[in-house]
Amino acid sequence: MPDHSYQVLDPATFDPAETARAEFAEHVLVGLSETPKHLSSRFIYDATGSDLFEQITELREYYPTRCEFEVLRAHADAILDPLKGASFNLIDLGAGDGRKTVVLLQRALERGMDVHYAPIDISEGAMAGLVSTMGRRMPTLTIEGIVSEYGHGVRWIGQQADRANLVLFLGSNIGNFDRSGSRAFLRRLWSALNPDDHVLVGFDLKKDIEVLLAAYNDREGVTARFNKNLLARINQDLDADFDLDQFRHFSTYNVFSGAMESYLVSLARQTVHVGGLEAEFEFAPWEPVHTEYSYKYLDSDIDRMCAHGGFVDEGRFYDANRWFCDALWRVAR
Ligand code: AVI
Repeated sequence: MPDHSYQVLDPATFDPAETARAEFAEHVLVGLSETPKHLSSRFIYDATGSDLFEQITELREYYPTRCEFEVLRAHADAILDPLKGASFNLIDLGAGDGRKTVVLLQRALERGMDVHYAPIDISEGAMAGLVSTMGRRMPTLTIEGIVSEYGHGVRWIGQQADRANLVLFLGSNIGNFDRSGSRAFLRRLWSALNPDDHVLVGFDLKKDIEVLLAAYNDREGVTARFNKNLLARINQDLDADFDLDQFRHFSTYNVFSGAMESYLVSLARQTVHVGGLEAEFEFAPWEPVHTEYSYKYLDSDIDRMCAHGGFVDEGRFYDANRWFCDALWRVAR
């Protein structure tokens, strides 16, 4: 008789770095084998990509970070009011350098609120830096950082039932999912949370197309380097030989989908070898690789996403230009 059995592997024996590398390898193999070719912007964010993104947030043309700071500074009290009297976790999904969160945390501490800070970020290096910087800035604050990607982070949030939760998903990170991805993400967040927990979601709003085009095609070329970091990362992690000068960054606004769409366009006929995949990929002159969606929203889109996600709208906060909105939602059951 053949052996019919199975074993459940101990999750502790999984190597997260190897799992991440395998996931990246599979993604590159699938994305570069399909027509049209595509890669996901979520793989831009290694140490170099995260650093380039921080540089983008300082650019004159890139308005979302500035606008969201303005929103948080102007409306910190109204955002925190629903948590009055509660002991709560402020959970920061995709915390980055935490600069925006400081605005809310400082206000909460000034108001004597019982807040614990739980940043979640995929990069261990970024997390170590964040925990030490925030600890120095706010020595009385309880901080528990979680190194994880969004999916596991959301599951961890589900276990935090002893205190109320306010989950921050700022910076219009929601806009980097495609439509079905953002729906699935919000629904997963909802199901992980407890009734009356809150989420604060940053949405970049629809605006003058020239403003959008400038923001994703900055003059210094930082966004181009950020986008091309996908190829640099394939070279480094998967032993490939992409010539970055043989691709151009192209970012355009699709009025119909409502997204800034970014591409890397091949400037020549070329063959790229990816040693880690034991594969070669052909590029025709002007062949595009889709790399990023950055969706822009109308208020009516936000209404729909709130309702579909299972949330109740508790307030919308805007900058003076109405270019950016932070929406406060409560979990309804
Ligand atoms: C992180 N994310 C919300 C940024 C955005 O605007 O979509 C990433 C970015 N891509 C190009 N510039 C900035």
